[in-house]
This record gives sequence, C-alpha cells and structure tokens, in this order.
Amino acid sequence: MNHTRILGIGAYRASRVVPNSEIVERIDSSDEWVQQRSGIRERRWATEDETVRSMGLAASRQALERAGVDARQIDCVIVATVSHFMQTPAVATLIAHDLGADQPAAFDISAACAGFSHGIALASDLVRGGSARHVLVVGVERLSEITDPDDRGSAFIFADGAGAAVVGPSETPGIGPVVWGSDGEQYDLIRQREDWREVIVAEQPRMPHLTMQGAAVFRWASFTMAKVGLQALDRFGIGPDDLDCFVPHQANMRITDAMARAMKLPETVRVARDIATQGNTSAASIPLALDRMYLDGEARSGDRALLIAFGAGLAYAAQVVVLP
Ligand code: COA
Repeated sequence: MNHTRILGIGAYRASRVVPNSEIVERIDSSDEWVQQRSGIRERRWATEDETVRSMGLAASRQALERAGVDARQIDCVIVATVSHFMQTPAVATLIAHDLGADQPAAFDISAACAGFSHGIALASDLVRGGSARHVLVVGVERLSEITDPDDRGSAFIFADGAGAAVVGPSETPGIGPVVWGSDGEQYDLIRQREDWREVIVAEQPRMPHLTMQGAAVFRWASFTMAKVGLQALDRFGIGPDDLDCFVPHQANMRITDAMARAMKLPETVRVARDIATQGNTSAASIPLALDRMYLDGEARSGDRALLIAFGAGLAYAAQVVVLP
C-alpha cells in the first residue's frame, strides 16, 4: 500500500467556558468589538488539573478508539505543542506511556499554530517510507497560561485544548502532498516575549507571554495562505469546486473568511468555524475544528478537506485529506 490516510480523529476541549465579558474590562474592550474583529464569543480555558499531558491523552484515546487501532499498534507518537514547559523529555513519551503503547518512537515538534499539519505531513511520510505503520499525531496547547491578560491585541484570542489523529496505510490517496514553509524574517510577528533566561533574571519573574503584531499577521495569513491553499489543492489534483470542507487553523474568523474569498471557494464548501466558542488553540485548532464539524453534521466520511495551518515562525503547512 503506497498511500496513507487519517483513520480517526479525537478531541478534548478544556472545561472552563470563558465568555468575552470575563476578559474585555481589563483591556478596555467590549464583547461586541471582540466578536466583530475575531469572531470569538467565548473560549475554553483549562482548569488546574487539565494539563498538556492529560488533555493530549484524552484526545489520543478518542482518536485511537474512533480509528479502531490499539495503542500497541502505534509505532510513533508526534506531539505538536508550544505550551509543554518541560523542555526535555518530550511530552510525547509520557502520552505514549499513558496510552499503554509499546515503547514507540515519541517526540515533540515546535511549529506553533502550524504544528498539526506538520505532524500529519511527517506521519504520512513515515508510513509511506516504511518507518512506521501507524502514527499518532497530537496537537495540544494550554495557551491561557502564557496569554497576557493585559495585552489588548491578544488577551481575547488564545485558548486551551487538544486534538489527535491516527495516520495509517491506505489503498487510495487519503493525505495529499504537503505545501509548507517558513519565513524567519518575520520571526517577531508572533512570538514568546522573553526567553526562559530573561524570565528567570527579571525583577518580577512571570510566565513568558505570547506577543503578536495582529494587523501584520492578519495581512500575511489572509493573502499568502490563500495561495498556499490553492497549491495544496493543485498538488492533490483537485480544484476549489471539488472540495467538501475547508478547515483552516482557527486564528480569527475574519482570516478564515478572507482566505475562503481569495481562494474563490464555492458556497457548497463547508467552512470550519469552531473559533466562535473555542478560541484559538494553536496546534490543537484544526483537529478540534474537524471534531466540531462531525458533531454538527458538516463533515462526513469520504469528504475532501483542505487543512491549512499557519502561525509563529512564520511557519505554515497545508494538505488535502480525505476524512475518515
Ligand atoms: N478592544 C478594542 N479596541 C482595540 C482592541 C481591543 N482589544 N485592540 C485594538 N483596538 C483598537 C486599536 O487601538 C485601534 O484603534 P485606533 O484605530 O483608534 O488606533 C483599532 O482598534 C484597530 O487596531 P488594530 O490592532 O489595527 O486592530 P485589528 O483590526 O487589526 O484587530 C486583531 C486586531 C488582533 C483582532 C487582528 O489584528 C487579528 O486578529 N490579527 C490576526 C491575529 C491572529 O489571528 N493571530 C493568530 C495567528 S496564529
């Protein structure tokens, strides 16, 4: 079998529902402004015991169950995250152990909001290359912890949760060629404000918050990513009219709309809008958005979905997948 596909998708939403009203006063904003500029009505934030490890594990268990794959069949676990604060070892090793997997290869990747699509691309190539038969890809974040509640440009955006996918062999193409890249010249547009050393020597040590130049990110994402999306369709051998679902990273509802317009997606394409009630969960946002589409009856097995992930780095990755 020369091809690969996603066999199952799992999700875990952090349990605390945080409406805009809880955030806006501190940043001199309003529920109306946040909804209009970002599409976010409320977001999910983790409680103390909802950790990157526990949320990643919950999403992984669901993905395995839905895939009908036993944890012992997993040869490799890839976790995409920027909010696991133990720099080493990788949280992937813990999740693999918690699942009862048979000591698979396990490592974390740092590609920020583009992490899930990077993981899917790696997993697909590992299976096609014969290095693994089943790969578990997890995207998990606890961004509430590194969000600055006083930053007007980002306090309302970031959120917590996990998503996972099992990738395995297929007789037909189920994961298209990835279109990916990065632009280190724009490294400063979204980043951790301080590195760990700067945090530790600061007079008042605190978590290193995320910072973002929102308008510049907005322009880059809306236009550059639309071109990347069209390339991913082309590499799968289809056009916008052949697509069933559009599942971009849930960064901002207006970015989603701008990309869909720029790609001239027909109205028949169902568009992921999980951000409205989940917020932006970086590496977890695409599988969470897919899960929501299944729950709402907007995604069905066999649908062709365009995934586009983008964010800090500026890193991006896009591929067409056939939904399990
Ligand atoms: N509440 C109310 N007003 C705000 C505000 C807030 N939270 N933040 C900024 N403003 C004001 C500004 O002061 C400015 O006022 P002025 O025109 O009087 O100077 C005005 O709103 C516009 O500011 P700007 O920063 O240009 O806003 P914007 O339209 O670009 O929207 C974002 C801000 C953050 C919503 C938007 O830039 C964005 O979503 N960018 C993409 C971010 C993203 O998706 N990041 C994740 C990628 S992984």
